[in-house]
Amino acid sequence: MEFDVAGHRLVFQKGDITTIAADAIVNAANSGLLGGGGVDGAIHRSGGPGIMRELNEVRAQIGRCPPGQAVVTSAGDLPADWVIHAVGPIYRDGKSGEAEQLAACYRNSLRLAQEHDALRVTMPSISTGVYGYPMRSAAQIAIETVVGCLEQPDNTLKSVTFVLYDDPAFRTHVELAEKLLA
Ligand code: APR
Repeated sequence: MEFDVAGHRLVFQKGDITTIAADAIVNAANSGLLGGGGVDGAIHRSGGPGIMRELNEVRAQIGRCPPGQAVVTSAGDLPADWVIHAVGPIYRDGKSGEAEQLAACYRNSLRLAQEHDALRVTMPSISTGVYGYPMRSAAQIAIETVVGCLEQPDNTLKSVTFVLYDDPAFRTHVELAEKLLA
Protein backbone atom coordinates (compact mmCIF):
# COMPACT_ATOMS: atom_id res chain seq x y z
CA MET A 1 0.00 0.00 0.00
CA GLU A 2 1.54 3.34 -1.02
CA PHE A 3 0.84 6.99 -0.23
CA ASP A 4 2.23 10.20 -1.68
CA VAL A 5 3.53 12.58 0.97
CA ALA A 6 4.74 15.90 -0.46
CA GLY A 7 6.01 14.10 -3.56
CA HIS A 8 7.75 11.32 -1.58
CA ARG A 9 6.51 7.74 -1.21
CA LEU A 10 5.27 6.31 2.09
CA VAL A 11 4.87 2.55 1.62
CA PHE A 12 3.51 -0.25 3.83
CA GLN A 13 4.55 -3.80 3.02
CA LYS A 14 4.15 -7.14 4.80
CA GLY A 15 7.26 -9.30 5.04
CA ASP A 16 10.73 -9.86 6.45
CA ILE A 17 12.69 -6.60 6.44
CA THR A 18 15.98 -8.43 5.78
CA THR A 19 14.75 -9.58 2.35
CA ILE A 20 13.75 -6.17 0.98
CA ALA A 21 16.35 -4.06 -0.86
CA ALA A 22 16.88 -0.52 0.39
CA ASP A 23 19.68 2.00 0.78
CA ALA A 24 19.23 1.90 4.56
CA ILE A 25 17.45 -0.65 6.75
CA VAL A 26 16.39 0.40 10.25
CA ASN A 27 16.96 -2.18 12.99
CA ALA A 28 15.07 -2.43 16.30
CA ALA A 29 18.12 -2.64 18.54
CA ASN A 30 18.80 -2.38 22.29
CA SER A 31 20.84 0.17 24.20
CA GLY A 32 23.67 -2.28 24.62
CA LEU A 33 23.88 -2.78 20.83
CA LEU A 34 24.32 -6.46 21.68
CA GLY A 35 21.95 -8.04 19.16
CA GLY A 36 18.99 -10.13 20.21
CA GLY A 37 15.89 -11.72 18.73
CA GLY A 38 13.19 -10.29 16.46
CA VAL A 39 14.37 -7.82 13.83
CA ASP A 40 17.75 -7.51 15.57
CA GLY A 41 18.34 -11.25 15.37
CA ALA A 42 17.23 -11.42 11.75
CA ILE A 43 19.49 -8.54 10.73
CA HIS A 44 22.57 -10.05 12.35
CA ARG A 45 21.79 -13.53 11.00
CA SER A 46 21.29 -12.28 7.44
CA GLY A 47 23.83 -9.46 7.54
CA GLY A 48 26.69 -11.52 8.91
CA PRO A 49 29.27 -11.01 11.68
CA GLY A 50 30.74 -7.81 10.22
CA ILE A 51 27.80 -5.79 11.53
CA MET A 52 28.47 -6.84 15.14
CA ARG A 53 32.18 -6.14 14.70
CA GLU A 54 31.30 -2.58 13.74
CA LEU A 55 28.88 -2.31 16.66
CA ASN A 56 31.66 -3.47 19.00
CA GLU A 57 33.69 -0.46 17.84
CA VAL A 58 30.72 1.87 18.27
CA ARG A 59 30.10 0.47 21.76
CA ALA A 60 33.76 0.99 22.64
CA GLN A 61 33.36 4.65 21.69
CA ILE A 62 29.93 5.54 23.11
CA GLY A 63 29.24 2.81 25.67
CA ARG A 64 25.47 2.59 25.24
CA CYS A 65 22.93 3.99 22.77
CA PRO A 66 20.06 5.63 24.71
CA PRO A 67 16.42 4.97 23.78
CA GLY A 68 15.37 7.35 20.99
CA GLN A 69 18.85 7.41 19.49
CA ALA A 70 20.41 5.37 16.67
CA VAL A 71 23.83 4.44 15.26
CA VAL A 72 24.85 3.39 11.74
CA THR A 73 26.88 0.46 10.45
CA SER A 74 27.39 -1.10 7.04
CA ALA A 75 24.83 -3.70 6.01
CA GLY A 76 27.11 -6.71 5.47
CA ASP A 77 25.30 -9.29 3.32
CA LEU A 78 21.92 -7.54 3.56
CA PRO A 79 20.44 -5.97 0.38
CA ALA A 80 21.35 -2.46 1.56
CA ASP A 81 24.28 -0.11 2.09
CA TRP A 82 23.54 0.80 5.72
CA VAL A 83 21.85 -0.51 8.84
CA ILE A 84 20.53 2.13 11.21
CA HIS A 85 20.36 0.56 14.67
CA ALA A 86 17.57 2.47 16.42
CA VAL A 87 16.85 1.88 20.11
CA GLY A 88 13.15 2.07 20.89
CA PRO A 89 11.64 2.66 24.33
CA ILE A 90 10.64 -0.25 26.54
CA TYR A 91 6.92 0.30 27.06
CA ARG A 92 6.03 0.70 30.75
CA ASP A 93 2.80 2.63 31.28
CA GLY A 94 2.64 5.13 28.42
CA LYS A 95 3.36 7.93 30.88
CA SER A 96 7.14 7.55 31.14
CA GLY A 97 8.11 9.43 27.99
CA GLU A 98 7.77 6.41 25.72
CA ALA A 99 5.89 8.28 22.98
CA GLU A 100 8.55 10.96 22.63
CA GLN A 101 11.36 8.40 22.69
CA LEU A 102 9.62 6.38 19.96
CA ALA A 103 9.10 9.49 17.82
CA ALA A 104 12.75 10.41 18.35
CA CYS A 105 13.75 6.93 17.11
CA TYR A 106 12.08 7.56 13.79
CA ARG A 107 13.28 11.16 13.49
CA ASN A 108 16.88 10.24 14.25
CA SER A 109 16.77 7.22 11.92
CA LEU A 110 15.57 9.35 9.00
CA ARG A 111 18.10 12.06 9.84
CA LEU A 112 20.95 9.52 9.81
CA ALA A 113 19.65 7.96 6.58
CA GLN A 114 19.76 11.36 4.87
CA GLU A 115 23.22 12.08 6.28
CA HIS A 116 24.33 8.88 4.55
CA ASP A 117 22.67 9.89 1.25
CA ALA A 118 20.10 7.10 1.47
CA LEU A 119 17.10 7.61 -0.81
CA ARG A 120 15.10 4.47 0.10
CA VAL A 121 14.69 3.50 3.75
CA THR A 122 12.89 0.50 5.24
CA MET A 123 11.74 0.40 8.87
CA PRO A 124 10.14 -2.14 11.19
CA SER A 125 7.51 -1.32 13.76
CA ILE A 126 9.99 -0.39 16.47
CA SER A 127 9.26 -1.38 20.11
CA THR A 128 6.09 -3.34 19.27
CA GLY A 129 7.65 -6.76 19.90
CA VAL A 130 9.86 -7.58 22.88
CA TYR A 131 9.57 -3.96 24.07
CA GLY A 132 5.82 -4.29 24.43
CA TYR A 133 4.59 -1.07 22.83
CA PRO A 134 0.88 -1.39 21.91
CA MET A 135 0.81 -1.70 18.12
CA ARG A 136 -1.87 0.90 17.41
CA SER A 137 -0.32 3.61 19.57
CA ALA A 138 3.14 2.89 18.19
CA ALA A 139 1.91 2.91 14.60
CA GLN A 140 0.16 6.26 15.09
CA ILE A 141 3.37 7.80 16.45
CA ALA A 142 5.50 6.20 13.73
CA ILE A 143 3.31 7.35 10.85
CA GLU A 144 2.84 10.89 12.19
CA THR A 145 6.57 11.25 12.76
CA VAL A 146 7.60 9.89 9.36
CA VAL A 147 5.00 12.01 7.54
CA GLY A 148 6.31 15.04 9.42
CA CYS A 149 9.86 14.26 8.26
CA LEU A 150 8.83 13.68 4.64
CA GLU A 151 6.98 17.02 4.61
CA GLN A 152 10.13 18.93 5.62
CA PRO A 153 11.29 21.14 2.69
CA ASP A 154 14.87 19.87 3.07
CA ASN A 155 13.88 16.20 3.09
CA THR A 156 15.93 14.24 0.53
CA LEU A 157 14.41 10.76 1.01
CA LYS A 158 12.55 9.33 -1.96
CA SER A 159 10.70 6.62 -0.06
CA VAL A 160 10.14 5.25 3.42
CA THR A 161 8.74 1.73 3.61
CA PHE A 162 7.32 0.22 6.79
CA VAL A 163 7.87 -3.54 6.64
CA LEU A 164 5.32 -5.26 8.90
CA TYR A 165 5.80 -8.84 9.95
CA ASP A 166 2.19 -9.97 10.15
CA ASP A 167 -1.30 -9.10 8.92
CA PRO A 168 -2.59 -7.34 12.07
CA ALA A 169 0.43 -5.01 12.11
CA PHE A 170 0.10 -4.36 8.38
CA ARG A 171 -3.64 -3.64 8.58
CA THR A 172 -3.25 -1.38 11.61
CA HIS A 173 -0.61 0.73 9.88
CA VAL A 174 -2.55 1.03 6.60
CA GLU A 175 -5.78 1.93 8.39
CA LEU A 176 -4.08 4.67 10.41
CA ALA A 177 -2.23 6.01 7.36
CA GLU A 178 -5.49 6.18 5.40
CA LYS A 179 -7.08 8.15 8.23
CA LEU A 180 -4.14 10.52 8.58
CA LEU A 181 -3.53 11.06 4.86
CA ALA A 182 -7.04 10.80 3.42
N1 APR B 1 11.06 -8.12 9.62
C1 APR B 1 10.16 -7.17 9.95
N2 APR B 1 9.59 -7.06 11.16
C2 APR B 1 9.93 -7.99 12.09
C3 APR B 1 10.88 -9.02 11.84
C4 APR B 1 11.45 -9.06 10.54
N3 APR B 1 12.34 -10.00 10.19
N4 APR B 1 11.01 -9.77 12.98
C5 APR B 1 10.19 -9.23 13.89
N5 APR B 1 9.53 -8.17 13.37
C6 APR B 1 8.54 -7.29 14.01
C7 APR B 1 7.87 -7.80 15.25
O1 APR B 1 6.74 -8.59 14.92
C8 APR B 1 7.48 -6.49 15.93
O2 APR B 1 6.23 -6.04 15.42
O3 APR B 1 9.26 -6.14 14.42
C9 APR B 1 8.56 -5.51 15.50
C10 APR B 1 9.59 -5.17 16.60
O4 APR B 1 9.83 -6.33 17.37
P1 APR B 1 11.27 -6.66 18.02
O5 APR B 1 12.18 -7.12 16.95
O6 APR B 1 11.02 -7.54 19.18
O7 APR B 1 11.84 -5.25 18.52
P2 APR B 1 11.45 -4.37 19.78
O8 APR B 1 10.07 -4.60 20.24
O9 APR B 1 11.87 -2.98 19.38
O10 APR B 1 12.42 -4.93 20.92
C11 APR B 1 13.81 -4.71 20.79
O11 APR B 1 14.25 -7.03 21.09
O12 APR B 1 15.29 -8.38 19.60
C12 APR B 1 15.47 -7.62 20.73
O13 APR B 1 17.77 -6.95 20.61
C13 APR B 1 16.43 -6.50 20.50
O14 APR B 1 16.59 -5.99 22.83
C14 APR B 1 16.02 -5.56 21.60
C15 APR B 1 14.51 -5.73 21.64
